[in-house]
Amino acid sequence: MTKETDWQERYHTEDTPWDKGKPAPGLVDWLKTQTLDPETRVLVPGCGRGHDASAWANAGFETTGLDLADLALTDARKKYDSLPNLAFFPGNFLDEKPQEPYDLIFEHTLYCAIDPDRREDYARSLLNWLKPGGYFLAIHFIFPLDEDGPPFGASREEIINRFDPELKLIEDWKPRNFDGRKNEEWMFLWQRIS
Ligand SMILES: C[S@@+](CC[C@H](N)C(=O)[O-])C[C@H]1O[C@@H](n2cnc3c(N)ncnc32)[C@H](O)[C@@H]1O
Repeated sequence: MTKETDWQERYHTEDTPWDKGKPAPGLVDWLKTQTLDPETRVLVPGCGRGHDASAWANAGFETTGLDLADLALTDARKKYDSLPNLAFFPGNFLDEKPQEPYDLIFEHTLYCAIDPDRREDYARSLLNWLKPGGYFLAIHFIFPLDEDGPPFGASREEIINRFDPELKLIEDWKPRNFDGRKNEEWMFLWQRIS
């Protein structure tokens, strides 16, 4: 994968090895024990075919999936059409701003998919999309930046330094993974300070 990934083309050619056809196990586990306000509005940027977004909607939350790739969103809408509290919109998380920021942002393998030169843009954008006091829940890939991977590595320390101090780390842990992803994923729960 090059720095300039053509996401629409990846979906067009079905070259989507990250897509396991169901929500991330770490998210499924977290949703079983969450104590969020039922009115929490959730954004899932880089939602792909919408499996994680569907887990949020099935848990009862008003959920929006956002992605650059129209083809992914077409598949997402087809598969999850029956969920009335779930909507999918095309958009660029790094360059756009919402009319109304969200109470919670969940992301899974978006940070590792964007060019590392744009990580500061990602951190800035997060503050555009997330309300003060809101939560940021993420499943990131942890592996060295100079190794090939899915596609850009990061360390736990780099991620923590990226979002601190605007966000306060509540906890981080190794989530249950999809088969074959052992020891690569790490989950973080943050709260935006102000
Ligand atoms: C590795 S895939 C992960 C998809 C999904 N989260 C999953 O786990 O199945 C990364 C996704 O992010 C989307 N994406 C990449 N850059 C984006 C951006 N700046 N804004 C919105 N979506 C983006 C891609 O189109 C792709 O669907």
